[in-house]
Amino acid sequence: MDDYRIELARRADAAPIARMSERYVEAGLKPAWGAVRIGWYIRDPDSVVLTARGPDDIAGFAIMRFGDETAHLNLLAVAPGHRRRGVARHLLTWLEDSALTAGTFVIGLELRADNAVARTFYASLGYLETGEVPGYYQGIESAIRLRRDVRVSREAPGTRHTSP
Ligand SMILES: CC(C)(COP(=O)(O)OP(=O)(O)OC[C@H]1O[C@@H](n2cnc3c(N)ncnc32)[C@H](O)[C@@H]1OP(=O)(O)O)[C@@H](O)C(=O)NCCC(=O)NCCS
Repeated sequence: MDDYRIELARRADAAPIARMSERYVEAGLKPAWGAVRIGWYIRDPDSVVLTARGPDDIAGFAIMRFGDETAHLNLLAVAPGHRRRGVARHLLTWLEDSALTAGTFVIGLELRADNAVARTFYASLGYLETGEVPGYYQGIESAIRLRRDVRVSREAPGTRHTSP
């Protein structure tokens, strides 16, 4: 991870992030995350658009919207040449730490049911699958819903962090 800088997205990042979303998250669907929508999230005070920057380009990004009770992870992707180096884990851990600090303890998300790699990734980070939503993606693909309580340790699910 030393090769990457974790930084908030700038307005100019909206277009490259939209291209990554279309390519890596929304492949086969009508793209719903264009540059205008991403730009809205970059400006939204209740959202964080986070990037991991390599020497030449954006290696990965994540978009999270924070509510009072829950935060929702809208998008997360890492470009193929940068995968399995802990980039997504770092992005998500940064957002989870922010949620914990903000007192927003539950993070929810949906992902495409056939995305086995992402299901393995989220399971490795302590996310629990809570159900399936048929037709969630434009009526043609199911979603799996996941959630994680950021107060619960990843290593020992069911064990809450306690103060010393
Ligand atoms: C899912 C995705 C974000 C993971 O990004 P990444 O930076 O490669 O993930 P990390 O390196 O942080 O992996 C963390 C852990 O997740 C698991 N994992 C990640 N990719 C995996 C794979 N291809 N096979 C098995 N386990 C995997 C491993 O436990 C890994 O830890 P390890 O490398 O120490 O074994 C990336 O594959 C991706 O962008 N996929 C396309 C878009 C997508 O599916 N987004 C998520 C849904 S919105």
